[in-house]
Amino acid sequence: MEQSLTRLVDELSSSRELPLEDYERLIAGYSPELAAYAAERAVAVRKSVYGTDVFVRGLIEISSYCKNDCRYCGIRASNATAERYRLAPDTIVDCANEGYDLGFRTFVLQGGEDPWFDDERLCDIVRRIKEVHPDCAVTLSMGERSRASYQALFDAGADRYLLRHETATREHYERLHPARMSFDDRMRCLRDLRDIGYAVGCGFMVGSPYQTAAHLAADLKFVERFRPQMCGIGPFVPHHATEFAQKPAGSVALTCFLLSLLRLMQPNLLLPATTALGTLDARGREKGILAGANVVMPNLSPTAVRSMYSLYDNKICTGEESAQCRGCLSTRMLSIGYTVVVDRGDPRAATMAFGGEGTRPDPKEEE
Ligand code: 5AD
Ligand code: FES
Repeated sequence: MEQSLTRLVDELSSSRELPLEDYERLIAGYSPELAAYAAERAVAVRKSVYGTDVFVRGLIEISSYCKNDCRYCGIRASNATAERYRLAPDTIVDCANEGYDLGFRTFVLQGGEDPWFDDERLCDIVRRIKEVHPDCAVTLSMGERSRASYQALFDAGADRYLLRHETATREHYERLHPARMSFDDRMRCLRDLRDIGYAVGCGFMVGSPYQTAAHLAADLKFVERFRPQMCGIGPFVPHHATEFAQKPAGSVALTCFLLSLLRLMQPNLLLPATTALGTLDARGREKGILAGANVVMPNLSPTAVRSMYSLYDNKICTGEESAQCRGCLSTRMLSIGYTVVVDRGDPRAATMAFGGEGTRPDPKEEE
């Protein structure tokens, strides 16, 4: 393994940032040995902040209707073969109640961009969940909305918002999305969410079509500067009814390497080992945790609708009940020495010993 590359990992561990070219050198220079080196350091940093705790989020997939048309996504509006459903507000609240009894203290309401879930309906659902479970966090993952909408949802009690940036390179963004979707809109949404006061999650796919090491380096730079509370990354998985059906899937190993680099960059970052990782590799989520991730997101959606929330092919957990997913993940985590905890799972303060928050300059966001 090239010494100059391990030195870059060391430098990232101590300064929490690298020049863009160095991120690219690391990514282009990926090797299993280099990744193992980064993972070892990332796991040490992760343990210093979160011990062996793993946070869980109960994922409720509330609608497979989507007015958007992302070229990689199975529920894109132009996929006429996609089966569509939307959960009734009462059903969503029931899912959260069931989740609460299973030990979830965070609920993620995720869906396509479905206009049926206007502010009035969505605010009402958020309010109902927070009223019954004031000790829980509600996370929304409902795509791009207006600033006024984000504000209304925040005022109704939503705590966090996940909106992956998908790629931090404008030209690449334009190749993954139809002309009417804009990179600037996506960035505007992320800034609005942050300004309003949400804990914000961005994120990207690894191995998406046309992606290069330079694009991934730009993604790392974006995360370094934006300093989100959460970052969701997972391998691209082709969906048979999209124009990217024949494109190769992303690499589990490269995804894990990037998880390690993100952990080193931001010690207290909430980093999920995603369902896409688990889809491409039966032990993908365990590998993600062992690379430095600290969150898993078992499915709480009603079993009857699960297979319809089909963003990509072969998605796991579509046949299991919520309790089964929860139990399965607890067992998987225990098998690698980690424990799923009953906790809202807010970011914890990073310790000084590992050069955490306290040693960094002002985390102001720059252009
Ligand atoms: N493969 C992997 N991830 C995908 N997503 C959408 N389609 C795919 C796919 N084919 C991810 C996007 C989106 C999130 C909800 O799911 O990054 O933001
Ligand atoms: Fe629905 Fe992309 S197709 S958000």
